[in-house]
Amino acid sequence: MNTTKVADGIFRITAHVDTDILFEGLWPLPHGVTLNSFLVRGKESALIDGVCDWDGVPETLYAQLAQMEVELRDIRYAVLNHLEPDHTGWLSSLRALHRDFEIVTTKKGGELVRAFYGIDVPVRTVKSGDSIDLGGGKRLHFTEIPNVHWPETMATYEESTGALFPCDAFGSFGGDGSIPYDDEMDKKELDFYREETLRYYANIVARFSDSVLRAIEKLGGVDVKIVAPAHGIVWRRDPGRIIDLYRRYAEYAKGTAEPVITVIWGSMYGNTERAVAPLLEGIESAGVEARVFRVPETHESYVLASAWESTGIVLGMPTYEYHMFPPMAAVIEDLGRKGVVNREAFRFGSYGWSGGAQKELDDILHRLKMKWNFMDPMEFRGAPTEKDLAVLRERGRDLALRVKKRCGLAE
Ligand code: FEO
Repeated sequence: MNTTKVADGIFRITAHVDTDILFEGLWPLPHGVTLNSFLVRGKESALIDGVCDWDGVPETLYAQLAQMEVELRDIRYAVLNHLEPDHTGWLSSLRALHRDFEIVTTKKGGELVRAFYGIDVPVRTVKSGDSIDLGGGKRLHFTEIPNVHWPETMATYEESTGALFPCDAFGSFGGDGSIPYDDEMDKKELDFYREETLRYYANIVARFSDSVLRAIEKLGGVDVKIVAPAHGIVWRRDPGRIIDLYRRYAEYAKGTAEPVITVIWGSMYGNTERAVAPLLEGIESAGVEARVFRVPETHESYVLASAWESTGIVLGMPTYEYHMFPPMAAVIEDLGRKGVVNREAFRFGSYGWSGGAQKELDDILHRLKMKWNFMDPMEFRGAPTEKDLAVLRERGRDLALRVKKRCGLAE
């Protein structure tokens, strides 16, 4: 991993989190994720955002500082935009090696420094509008952006370069740090990162979409020339692209997203499975894209990303012990907790002696205030008949037409 120059006097230091780690202990990283820190060098130096203390990671940071001939004693400020340990886990290690620095964070951030690390380092608390002059033409400004991703979060802005350091906001999964800037990527790489940005947003940030919109509004008066988040790509050529993408993702929290239907299904003996193909034929006959996920085979990280971007959702599962097929219930709970609300929806599936799925589904939808607008469900006893399959085709088409209408697409 190499240190790279972001702009005059600003350097990006990256740790790569490997693919065998689950992010937050939950989310798979088949393409890894980067932890970005940034060194701003004026007369004094500030390190903005840190890294976790997973195997060998703080050492990676120190090695990169050494590459730049920066000694730890040169660091005057550790700017903590957000206290989650993926950005601050190295603090105790730093403190063991270096005494004379100051932590810069919000008031709430200061509380978490004590709670997580209990280290005897001076903490300078800052609020929106405060700034620190590093000398040498470098000045850092701070803006509180609470709940993107935790309540203590702030963004830091360096005025001479127009670089914004928003920590988790505008971040993405993916990448080993070898393609750290948007201006070094071709379309294929940007498309790949778009997928990983959506998954990151849906998994990590979605619950806080109102806060994302408030943060974008708060930062609206700032002349942002570079967006340098703590995960993933640094945006220099087109910083507006990632800000617009986040605004768009945050708006999906209201319910209308893309004209896409996410079909989530599970099956025990193949009866529910037989109903999937005609349903898809119906959806596709109306010219709407369907994305299909089988549970429990697919990790909810991917289901969640697709559902977040979809205006329509289909649930296909058998009854299991008078309830829903358990992995389906778990996925719906996840969707509800992350704020996938107000979608157009349809449910189908096989049962044997009794139903029971509807009651459990209603309980979850009500408890998590999901407000999905369901069409009449289609349940069949045992295997679906030809007549059942014809109804499923029809329902698929009807749902697709509802989604198109909701998205403002003419039939
Ligand atoms: Fe990247 Fe909320 O930590």
